[in-house]
Amino acid sequence: MRTDYCGKVRGSNIGEIVTLYGWVDRRRDHGGVIFIDLRDRTGIIQVVSDPQRTPESYEEAESLRNEYVVQIIGRVSERPPESLNSKLPTGEVEVYADQIILLNSVRKQLPFQVSTAEMEAVREDLRLKYRYLDLRRDRMMCNLQLRHQVVKAIRRFLEDEENFIEVETPILTRSTPEGARDYLVPSRVNPGEWYALPQSPQLFKQLLMVSGFDRYYQIARCFRDEDLRSDRQPEFTQLDMEMSFLTQDEILALNEALVCHIFQTIKNIELPRPFPRLTYAESMDIYGTDRPDTRFGLELVDVSEIVKDSGFKVFSGAVNSGGIVKVLPIPGGNDTISNVRIKPGGDLFTEACLAGAKGIAYIRVREGLEIDTIGAIKDNLSEVQKQELLRKTGAEPGHLLLFGAGERNIVNKSLDRLRLVVGEELGLIDKEKVNLLWVTDFPMFEWNEDEKRLEALHHPFTAPHPDDLNDLKTARAQAYDLVYNGVEIGGGSLRIYQREIQEKVFSYIGLSMEEAYNKFGFLLEAFEYGTPPHGGIAYGLDRLVMLLAREESIRDVIAFPKTQQASCLLTDAPAQVEEKQLKELQVKSTYK
Ligand code: AMO
Repeated sequence: MRTDYCGKVRGSNIGEIVTLYGWVDRRRDHGGVIFIDLRDRTGIIQVVSDPQRTPESYEEAESLRNEYVVQIIGRVSERPPESLNSKLPTGEVEVYADQIILLNSVRKQLPFQVSTAEMEAVREDLRLKYRYLDLRRDRMMCNLQLRHQVVKAIRRFLEDEENFIEVETPILTRSTPEGARDYLVPSRVNPGEWYALPQSPQLFKQLLMVSGFDRYYQIARCFRDEDLRSDRQPEFTQLDMEMSFLTQDEILALNEALVCHIFQTIKNIELPRPFPRLTYAESMDIYGTDRPDTRFGLELVDVSEIVKDSGFKVFSGAVNSGGIVKVLPIPGGNDTISNVRIKPGGDLFTEACLAGAKGIAYIRVREGLEIDTIGAIKDNLSEVQKQELLRKTGAEPGHLLLFGAGERNIVNKSLDRLRLVVGEELGLIDKEKVNLLWVTDFPMFEWNEDEKRLEALHHPFTAPHPDDLNDLKTARAQAYDLVYNGVEIGGGSLRIYQREIQEKVFSYIGLSMEEAYNKFGFLLEAFEYGTPPHGGIAYGLDRLVMLLAREESIRDVIAFPKTQQASCLLTDAPAQVEEKQLKELQVKSTYK
């Protein structure tokens, strides 16, 4: 029987006989004495086999290689002063091995070194193909343990402090509209019919409120067939919550307490409460995005009013055709950002173009607030306009002003991108900072240009703001997102719980009554049977853990993630299936 985990042995165990199990992280032969770093999920301990002191284990110790699995029985000893290792929690002890029992060896060459001591950088595709080996490595082992701790903290808080209960909801279900494509599963027993995997448990959690569960949560797997990025996976995990009889403020306060509990437990950080709040309109105005990274300034300034009558057609034309002109003022930008980078072909130019902009206009502010720029801007701004520009943007000598002009969305998007690149480059982002904020009052709908229709910005079950009921099309929603250092980690809303309003919202997003009843008749019907006012939120658990682990990709906090191409390199999923299976399902592939 194991007496201890490797990483847990301490000075207080000196003199004890221990039985350890683990993997050989490294084996070193020091002139006859063999040192084995033995590793399990808790860490590493040094095992010694000495031909003089422990001859019984010596032969076995000599034959060990990296990643062999062994059982070791030995005595915990104090390390001699010259070999104390303050970097290891077990660094003041070592175990003299009386017995080494080989449980299994490694029969193939390892695709990469597992030992952290080797510090080998390994290509991600190789890591994913041999994920079980990658998970042995310190980084992934820590990340998954952290993930476990986060979930544990969530459960303890929600269940023990706040009276939530966890309820599982179906995976084989009907489409739950969150705006992505569905993953579909054909039904064998109902030929021609399909289940959709849930994009979220949204409808079921609302139905649980109708049933009176009052406070529900679930660590829920969600499936969305959408373009993948470093913070998106086709299947991911939400902490999903729904509550009845609470106001928006009460929901936000409860969630702040939850998030504070997580940070306290995991990071020992006490976050100030209440979290700051910005409305969607304010956030777009100041940062050009609804998920601002507020760890640094570089706030945008709308100068449309100042330049709308200027002779510079790019500016006046933009404003007069319903667009805007905004500035990203960069203190010290004159010295650090060259013209080459802003002009066609430059990296900042390209960055803006990726957001749909046609280019970037700029002004350099010199000593004495002289303006230096190229082309038509300088000659086509009046002295008053120049002075107003400098005043409104707070420009000082050394400032570089980058301009976006055109359609509001494109200007915001491009300046948001530039702001992030410049903020990072100028070292303005304090990586130690934890900035959480709520963005509230999202619009109910946004215009989908491709489909020429309104689309629910959050989802179509979100309740409109009570003050805006007269014109639902332009109404604000009672919706909120939680943003952590510029990443949207959660989003939710108060829900519609009256059939008439729900029907209206469906009609605005282009669903006919027939379609609405066909898809969501069960929900509309449920509203007829005594539905409490309710609301909720869902967190992207992977994203939250990614940030807590200071990783750049959610793949690094998921045990078996998919690649950007939505495939699993370990199992080779997705894969072809047998013709017989397709026949049973009455499905025929049209893929050539
Ligand atoms: P939403 O669609 O905003 O809301 O999702 C909630 C949170 O889930 C995370 N997330 C993702 N994480 C990884 N990969 C993805 N593909 C992915 N998509 C979303 C984000 C996001 O904030 N039913 C509503 C919640 C509600 O209204 O209660 C919903 O799913 O962190």
